[in-house]
Amino acid sequence: MNLRFVSSSAFLKDCPEPGLPEFAFIGRSNVGKSSLINMLSGRKALAKISSNPGKTRTINHYIDSDSSFYLVDLPGYGFARLSKTEINVLEKIIHTYILKRQNLKCIFVLIDSRHEPLKQDVTFMNWLVRNNKKFIVLFTKSDKNRKNDLAKLRAEYMLKVKTMVSGFVPDIIPTSSITRLGKEEVASIIKEMLLT
Ligand code: GTP
Ligand code: MG
Repeated sequence: MNLRFVSSSAFLKDCPEPGLPEFAFIGRSNVGKSSLINMLSGRKALAKISSNPGKTRTINHYIDSDSSFYLVDLPGYGFARLSKTEINVLEKIIHTYILKRQNLKCIFVLIDSRHEPLKQDVTFMNWLVRNNKKFIVLFTKSDKNRKNDLAKLRAEYMLKVKTMVSGFVPDIIPTSSITRLGKEEVASIIKEMLLT
């Protein structure tokens, strides 16, 4: 997937014209959204990454080389270190973008593969279901688990979240921006959705 940076937008109104299908990456701060976009593009420094949670504060558009779709790197939710006002502002930006962006085809919700279902993620997925938004769950940082552990974590997570999120599609795609696990699978999901 050959991607090029297009723009960083503070608000929905600043985003590029919604002329192409769009796929957004969201999840808790520091979960690995920007790293995953870099991994998909095969470029290390396309999207800015940082071990400091809260790195991405804007809506970042990337376009593929055939100009057939956009990938979007969103700010994370659940910043531990931000003020209540800052959290509210970012949440409003994310919610407005998801609810109003007409060309948004699907949202990839990123979850750290090492974690139990966390309240913020469950709340967010329920919000997506309530608002009829299509989403797919990706596990990030899968390289941090042994293979057997990963399979077990994935199965347990699916089982738990199924009871917590009504309408949860019981599947999770494991990814790693280090080993590039999941690269082909995510790319082929995007390709397939471009045909629908
Ligand atoms: P915000 O922009 O703050 O919301 O974070 P983000 O979700 O974009 O996370 P980012 O890609 O900046 O990564 C956060 C940290 O996790 C960085 O230190 C990355 O190097 C690390 N990281 C991301 N993906 C992986 C992965 O697949 N494996 C490992 N081991 N580390 C990862
Ligand atoms: Mg980021």
